[in-house]
Amino acid sequence: MTKTIFAANWKMNHGPADARGFLDRFLDGYRQESGREVWFFPPAVSIQSVTQRVARLPGILVGAQNVYWEPKGAFTGELSVSMAKDAGARAVLVGHSERRHVFGETDDDTGRKVRAVLDAAMTPLLCVGETLSERDNAKTLAVIHRQLAALDGLDSESLAQIVVAYEPVWAIGTGKNATPADAGTVHAAIHHWFEERGVAGGSVPVLYGGSVKPENAQELLSEDEIDGVLVGGASLEPKSWQAICAVGLD
Ligand code: PGA
Repeated sequence: MTKTIFAANWKMNHGPADARGFLDRFLDGYRQESGREVWFFPPAVSIQSVTQRVARLPGILVGAQNVYWEPKGAFTGELSVSMAKDAGARAVLVGHSERRHVFGETDDDTGRKVRAVLDAAMTPLLCVGETLSERDNAKTLAVIHRQLAALDGLDSESLAQIVVAYEPVWAIGTGKNATPADAGTVHAAIHHWFEERGVAGGSVPVLYGGSVKPENAQELLSEDEIDGVLVGGASLEPKSWQAICAVGLD
């Protein structure tokens, strides 16, 4: 892994006008650095505003927070992969814990979404992570492996296009983050899972997510197995997102 990915998951925040205002403030003072990428996952209605604003800026990519796997048809309220792509998205969050736990998305659904995103030559950012009770019952790795099994059947070339985010559910929006060492163990297991399936060591980036803030990002990113961060709350305010994206720079 050579690049570090800083991904902002805005969830249900920042409509088109807010998104433009955010970017004006964020980009004022932002400098592109080699080996670093900044990814934005705005709500679907804001994808175009964001892509238009960052169109000529290298190292910045825009993604969708969710898609449906069917190409078109009678699926009220859903967004197809090609619509997201047409709006400028190049990546898609798949299986975020809020999709799984609030909206009942299953491992099977995440598998279909990953395939639809890959078929469109876009990058799936697959989110995995255990709940607090699963963690307390020492089931963390079993849960991660069950969630990764949604990728079974994909060849190594397809697997190599995926990015994973490890987001322990108990750490999302709670202010409690996994320690770098704890996260490192899970990240190592995820890297190993891909290696066992023929993907060259470490070439699938594994991001950490869950209460990442300017104060803890440095420590998390100094852990070897952590290839980037997926940030919710602390990505909503331009200054705090700038501070996270600048971690490790002089
Ligand atoms: P958080 O959210 O940074 O607010 O904990 C992370 C996420 O849900 O992706």
